[in-house]
Amino acid sequence: MGSRHDLAVTVNGRRHERTVPARTSLADFLRDDLGLTGTRLGCEHGVCGCCTVLLDGDPVRSCIVLAAQAHDRDVTTVEGLGDPAGGLSPLQEAFCETHALQCGYCTSGMLIAAEALLRETAEPTREEIDAAIGGNLCRCTGYVQIREAIALAATRRNGDG
Ligand code: FES
Ligand code: FES
Repeated sequence: MGSRHDLAVTVNGRRHERTVPARTSLADFLRDDLGLTGTRLGCEHGVCGCCTVLLDGDPVRSCIVLAAQAHDRDVTTVEGLGDPAGGLSPLQEAFCETHALQCGYCTSGMLIAAEALLRETAEPTREEIDAAIGGNLCRCTGYVQIREAIALAATRRNGDG
């Protein structure tokens, strides 16, 4: 049996302690150990972006991050974006309103990438939106409504919409 690591990690504000095999990816840990299946797996080698989560506030591809690398750090998944009462966040609402998803497989990663952008940049330009989601593949939408959703969410976060 391979080596194992003791892991203490805060996910969506809740601390978890587990012992995990050294080779467990953060994505598998979130999905299989914590049951947070909102984080999707597509390519599983760092290309498609659908497994994106925030690690200490920065977007990372959780399929190529080891769970052990998240020790003593904060992770936010799509389940952590909504309000604590269970409602959708303004960003999630904007995705719904603008029809920014079809099959929805890319959506968790898109939302996390967009959330990271909006936390850093209150009024992103079209180019900044494109750069933020440039590593997230969507095979359905053509990206137009996704850009629209992020711009709408930015407007609302600024109290203008
Ligand atoms: S599943 Fe992680 S980047 Fe594609
Ligand atoms: S909505 Fe289907 S992959 Fe993006």
